[in-house]
Amino acid sequence: MFKTEVYVNRRKKLKKNFKSGALLFLGNDESPMNYPANPFHFRQDSSFLYYWGLDEPGVAALIDLDEGKEIIFGYDFTIDDVVWMGPQPTLKERARKAGIKEVYPISKLETAIRGIMNRGRKIHFLPPYRPENMIKLQNLLGIQASLIKNYASQKMIKAVVAQRSIKSQEEIQEIEFALDVAYDMHTYAMKYTRPGMYERQISGAIEGIALAKGNGTSFPIIFSIHGETLHNHYHGNLMNKGDIAVNDSGAESLEHYASDITRTIPVGGKFTAQQKEIYQIVLDAQMQSIAAMKPGVKFRKAHLIAAKVIAGGLANLGFLKGDLDEIVKGGAHALFFPHGLGHHMGLDVHDMEDLGEEYVGYSDKVKRSDQFGLAYLRMAKELEAGHVMTVEPGIYFIPELIDLWKSEKKFSEFINYSKVEKYRKFGGIRIEDNVLVTKNGHKVLGKPIPKKIQDVEAMWE
Ligand code: GLY
Ligand code: MN
Ligand code: MN
Repeated sequence: MFKTEVYVNRRKKLKKNFKSGALLFLGNDESPMNYPANPFHFRQDSSFLYYWGLDEPGVAALIDLDEGKEIIFGYDFTIDDVVWMGPQPTLKERARKAGIKEVYPISKLETAIRGIMNRGRKIHFLPPYRPENMIKLQNLLGIQASLIKNYASQKMIKAVVAQRSIKSQEEIQEIEFALDVAYDMHTYAMKYTRPGMYERQISGAIEGIALAKGNGTSFPIIFSIHGETLHNHYHGNLMNKGDIAVNDSGAESLEHYASDITRTIPVGGKFTAQQKEIYQIVLDAQMQSIAAMKPGVKFRKAHLIAAKVIAGGLANLGFLKGDLDEIVKGGAHALFFPHGLGHHMGLDVHDMEDLGEEYVGYSDKVKRSDQFGLAYLRMAKELEAGHVMTVEPGIYFIPELIDLWKSEKKFSEFINYSKVEKYRKFGGIRIEDNVLVTKNGHKVLGKPIPKKIQDVEAMWE
């Protein structure tokens, strides 16, 4: 946990947005893998961690604005628990670390909520994403579980998003820690990925690094010679000389902050001439979009810069033809770059995605495009100092998408399908870094992980 005052101050800032009512926070429960006593690795809800710090299942918290109270509800461990789990601090001791003096058994939460509702006051809560919390809210509030999301408090969502979007110094330090672990994961993969190995030999080893140095991975590892599948979690392919492997992986710090890095590496230590050409375009797109990042600039602009660099590079190689602005405006480049440039990162790798991308990345003024590719952009609005964003352009040759577009003659005025056909087995290349927006510009966080062609090749031992 951070120091007590961090949590006290975070709640103080949040409370300034409200005059009355109550703010309800539900922590996460253990989630059974195949039977209740064999749960998945426990992960606390990120907003609960942010405001209350308690990293344990079965807790809830309430800010009663009218009564001026902050309360944690949870469990004290029984002697049976202690026999299986070892000695545990009391709920009171645990809550005190977050600056909370008032604690009750979780069984009292319902009475507390009823009391507030009976006085006609509003209960604000965030949209739940776990079924058990939907059921809990159904029981507490009397709203059908399947509809509960519609009743989440927009006011609370907006206040939490505004606050969590701006990272403080101690949060940046945690992200840098997670990036140190990612450095080790990625340089390991660069050194030891060999022809004749299965992908899982590398993905398993780097997951081990994340577990040994931090709190495990921040999302399931993508390590694949089929990088054209954007989120490819299959690790069973045999790797051969000439293949390229997309390694999109990151770690969680001990306080649960994420890193999210992608590098694309040659399985045999050297890129082919064709791979180098495509790789350099992706790297140029990444560097040029990062260069544009500063407060006030829309992240959509950075995305479109990357799109134009990709379109220009692919036009030089003969995959595209025609006016670059028209290609990007129409979305023809999305055959090769079908996803968004990046997303907020913090306690969640896609930070606050549970609260709704429309709040995190869009606003009343900045609306989501419905164009294929651009529609996947998770964040379009203006950057602010303190934002931490991923920047992750890529070029992919997705056979199914090529076939579909070709059959529809889609953008045939811009796309040279006969050239594209020759690359249908190419795979994909993505390069991703984590960037802090500063007062005057930006800073790429973490120790530099090799990404220039010669630097990646030089890592092979
Ligand atoms: N790690 C998944 C992503 O880059 O969004
Ligand atoms: Mn990633
Ligand atoms: Mn990412």
